[in-house]
Amino acid sequence: MARVIELGSELLRTDLFLDNENYLKKLKFLKELKSENEIEILHIKALESWREGRYINATEIWEELLKIDSLDVIALKFAHDAYFYLGQSNNICSSVEKHLNIYEQDDHVPMELYGYFMGMLAFGLEEVHRYDEGMKAAIKAIEINQDDAWALHAIVHINEMRGEIQKGIEFMKLEENNWANCQALACHMWWHFCLYLMDQGKKDEILKIYDEKISIFIESITPLDLVDASALLFRLYLEGMIEKNDNRWEKVRNQWKNIIHSHALSFNDAHITMVFNNRLIHEEIINSHIQSLENYTNSKSNDVNHTCALVHQQVGIPICKAINAFNDSKFDETIQLLKDVILPGKTHLIGGSNAQRDVFELLFLHAIFNSPNKENHPIAKSLLDKRLEKKPHSGQNQRLVQRFENATTKQ
Ligand SMILES: [Fe+2]
Repeated sequence: MARVIELGSELLRTDLFLDNENYLKKLKFLKELKSENEIEILHIKALESWREGRYINATEIWEELLKIDSLDVIALKFAHDAYFYLGQSNNICSSVEKHLNIYEQDDHVPMELYGYFMGMLAFGLEEVHRYDEGMKAAIKAIEINQDDAWALHAIVHINEMRGEIQKGIEFMKLEENNWANCQALACHMWWHFCLYLMDQGKKDEILKIYDEKISIFIESITPLDLVDASALLFRLYLEGMIEKNDNRWEKVRNQWKNIIHSHALSFNDAHITMVFNNRLIHEEIINSHIQSLENYTNSKSNDVNHTCALVHQQVGIPICKAINAFNDSKFDETIQLLKDVILPGKTHLIGGSNAQRDVFELLFLHAIFNSPNKENHPIAKSLLDKRLEKKPHSGQNQRLVQRFENATTKQ
């Protein structure tokens, strides 16, 4: 099982090219050990499915393992991460929730482990907008394990989604010692902190955190950290707070170059596209990235279960092209590409959290504001109304409304 954990963690980092020969050898070696243990055999099958790009099949096997044993924490954690990458919010929640009775009543569940289950449940509840229940589960989790960064992260999300910005900032400051040392999540938590500051329009404070915290984390080439750095710079750019030639972009670009042809996750590809933002300088890499993404997707088109390629095809490639078009100031092209993703409600397919995916709606809105064509203004108005309904006091929403008004009155 130690090898299963090692190989599963490697795959779920999402930086690996799925057809990587070295990884294939390691998986082959694991199979050749010919385990007779049914659980291990299923775990290896799940890894094989993921490695083959059949992400949904992999989650089905992890669920099968959880039917056999609700306390298979490896299956539970891998499924939890997988659902996150697949944007399957309901499953992030239900895969933990359906075992809750056992977690609460089985005397064999150590209290510490029960706390971590609560942390996972809290995040799942947040992603399906059950904020009160999510908050209760997260508080229970941190009462048991005060440095459970995933549970703290769930509270950070709840404050973000409720638009409780100052409360969120105070909570993160108060709990900083309990999350800032969590290597896997610290960078992401700083990104969340910057999101609050972004709402308040505090550009200088955001850039200070970017330079002193986030920029350091991205030296490790962890996709989650690179995604955060890229998304933050892109959000700042959308708001006109930094320029395309700001020197911060370069370090992120250089880090992404190491894994630019992985294509294991559309979400990563979209963030890669955000940082290669100047066609005059990056023409070759922009073209080779999109070409390689399309080639990879086409090469798997015969496999109807290849979730990875299907997601690239349905949302990943259109979103990457939309970002490229925006960076080329082709705003109508961005709008057309994103209309087919955002309006039918397909954005979640790209994965990540609700808070992370908001960057795509922001991109859509800014493209509409920047376009001289006003025919999409009713769509922008409808999206803005929904945003204001959810977060009436959001500074970011107020700025978007102002931009919309400027766009409508522009001749
Ligand atoms: Fe998050």
